[in-house]
Amino acid sequence: MTPSSASELHGVDHLLVLCALPDDERVAAAGLIRAARRLGVSTEVLVADGGPGRDDREETIVDVLCRRLTSYPDPGRTLLGVPWRHGTGDREAAGRAASVAAARTGVRLVQYDARDPESFVVSEPGEASEVFEGVHVDAEDPWGVDERWYEERKRALTVAALPRRRFQNALELGCSVGALSADLAERCERLLAVDASESAVQACGQRLRAHPGASVEQRVIPAQWPEGSFDLVVMSESGYFLTPLQLETTLERIAGSLTADGVVVACHWRHPIRGWPLDGELVHERMLEAFADQSIEMLALHLEPDFVLHVFGRDAGVLPDPQALR
Ligand SMILES: C[S@@+](CC[C@H](N)C(=O)[O-])C[C@H]1O[C@@H](n2cnc3c(N)ncnc32)[C@H](O)[C@@H]1O
Repeated sequence: MTPSSASELHGVDHLLVLCALPDDERVAAAGLIRAARRLGVSTEVLVADGGPGRDDREETIVDVLCRRLTSYPDPGRTLLGVPWRHGTGDREAAGRAASVAAARTGVRLVQYDARDPESFVVSEPGEASEVFEGVHVDAEDPWGVDERWYEERKRALTVAALPRRRFQNALELGCSVGALSADLAERCERLLAVDASESAVQACGQRLRAHPGASVEQRVIPAQWPEGSFDLVVMSESGYFLTPLQLETTLERIAGSLTADGVVVACHWRHPIRGWPLDGELVHERMLEAFADQSIEMLALHLEPDFVLHVFGRDAGVLPDPQALR
């Protein structure tokens, strides 16, 4: 805890303060807001709607915060002020929702004590490894990839869309328990699958044991981008878990690591992704724009009500020749 609020505002351009209840007489971050105004930091106060019986209240707060926070240009220069978590009640729920939003958007969180306006605790943004480790510890197969026909068919379509029969060196971003990785490994001399979650990496490693050319590593994308160049990069259902800035960097890294004959395959759910800043449509829109700037063109599009699948490449010559016998 620090007695002063001005030090938290060093290097901050935007301050967003969340108030847990409309009739909370102790918005309490008044000192922080005053200091922000003095320093010329743009400041907004969001007041959460109260209401017993609203089961989705917490998720809605996460959603609204994520959208607001990602409207500021630089998460590194944004601060989210939220009520200190007392373990119960609306302030606890608002504080919990804010922690999730801060972790997902990469902004710093400062918790103010609603009973003591001068006390603040600052925490750094949560890592994707913590968030997704929790997801994989809670459920062995969080997305039902082994059980759902929808998932099995989508995987088959993803692999069928690969323009070449064989790839030399492939990279899969966000492999989870490795169902798609195992299918990709059949088509690649070498495959590196990466995921932020340690448990996911272990599960994926088990599946890849039968494929000597395939390996899996715990890495947070884009910060821990692997060395080397790849003739195949696969991003399936993982792009919307990045902040907009992380997505931009990831797309730059993909373009920077792609060989001249390289191919990118991306596949994402088209419905709203609650509580995350991006959704599948936005991820693919950003890809189309970012890759066009890097002379990586769209080679194929498969669109269904539930998901979108794109194949991109630097060279349309990678598509199979309809006349060739093999
Ligand atoms: C829905 S799963 C996708 C699994 C697989 N690609 C598929 O299509 O079946 C998304 C995975 O992305 C991983 N992930 C999310 N953000 C990540 C990041 N920044 N770096 C690495 N992995 C991440 C999660 O841990 C999760 O396992």
